[in-house]
Amino acid sequence: MTGAEGRRATIGRALREAAARLAASSDSPDLDAQLLLAEVLGLERAGLLARLADALPTVAAEPFAAFIDRRVAGEPVAYLLGRAWFHGLSFAVSPAVLIPRPETELMVDWGLAWLAERERTLPAPRMLDVGTGSGAIIVALAHAWRERFPAAAGLPEPRWTAVDLSAAALAMARENARQLVEEAVIDLRHADLWPGGSAEAAAGPTVPATYDLVLANLPYVGTDEVDLLAPDVRDHEPHQALFAGPDGLDCIRRLIAGLPERLAAGGAVGLEVGWTQAEEVATLLAEALPGSAVEVRRDLAGIGRLVVAETRELR
Ligand SMILES: C[S@@+](CC[C@H](N)C(=O)[O-])C[C@H]1O[C@@H](n2cnc3c(N)ncnc32)[C@H](O)[C@@H]1O
Repeated sequence: MTGAEGRRATIGRALREAAARLAASSDSPDLDAQLLLAEVLGLERAGLLARLADALPTVAAEPFAAFIDRRVAGEPVAYLLGRAWFHGLSFAVSPAVLIPRPETELMVDWGLAWLAERERTLPAPRMLDVGTGSGAIIVALAHAWRERFPAAAGLPEPRWTAVDLSAAALAMARENARQLVEEAVIDLRHADLWPGGSAEAAAGPTVPATYDLVLANLPYVGTDEVDLLAPDVRDHEPHQALFAGPDGLDCIRRLIAGLPERLAAGGAVGLEVGWTQAEEVATLLAEALPGSAVEVRRDLAGIGRLVVAETRELR
C-alpha cells in the first residue's frame, strides 16, 4: 500500500478507525463497526467486506460517525439497527423490548419438540407465551411449526396466545408477527401474566381457560444484582423486562402460583431462569405441580437456563 492509499478514506480505513474508537466500550468492536457501516451503505456484511478498498461515499461519513458516537455511549447495536437475529429470523426491536438472546432459542427448540411429539394426539394445542416482548419466542415457534407442518399437511395449527404488560412491547410483537408469520395467527393480549385479566385493554374474543404449553422468559434479574449487569443492558434495555424483585424471582413465583389452575392436564411449562436460579425454580415447580416430571436444561455455556415441567394426563 502506498502512503497516499493508506490515507485515502476507504471503507477499510473507516472500519479500522471506528473499531479503534469502540475498543474501550465494546466486546466486539470490529463486528459492531461492520454491522453499522453495512447498514449505512445498505449492504450485507459480506458485501461490505468485499469492498474494503473502495472509497467511503462522502454521504456515508456523517451517519456512520453518528452511529459510532451512539455505540461508544453504550447503545446496543440491535437498537441502532432496529433489528436483531433470533432463531434464524430478523426481528424488529426497539428500546421498548428486550433484545432477544441466543440462549432463549433453547426454549423455542424445546417447545417445538414438545408440540411436534404430540402433533397427532393433541390437535390444536393451546400455547401461551408470557412476557412476549418482541414476540421472539412465539413468533419463532409459530414460524418453525409452520415450516415443519405446512398447511398441506392438514394438521390443525396450535392456538397461539401471547401476553405482555407493556403496550409498546405488544406493538413490536404485532409487527414481528405480521412480518414473519401472519398478524392474525397470534392472539396478543395486554395482561399481567395471564390473559383474560383486568389489565386487558378491551374485551376481545375469549381466551382459553387453560393451556397445554406455557413458555415464559419473564424478568429474572434481582434488583440486588443491578451492579452486575453490563452498562449496555442496565442503561438501555427496559427495566420492566429485566428486574423482578430483590432476588429476581417475583414474576416467576407469581406465574408458578397460577399454574395449577391454568395448565391443562398433560400440559407442560418451560421457564427461562438466571444462572443461579434453576434449582430453586425446579423446586417451586415440583411443589406447584406434584407428580410432574421436572428437568433443568443447560445452555451452550453449561448454565441451567431452562426449567421444564411436564404434568401427567390426570392430575
Ligand atoms: C425478559 S423480557 C423477554 C422478552 C421475550 N420473551 C424474549 O425472550 O426476548 C420479559 C418481558 O416480560 C414482560 N413482563 C414483565 N412483567 C410482566 C407481567 N407481570 N406480565 C406480563 N408480562 C410481563 C416485560 O414487559 C418484557 O417484555
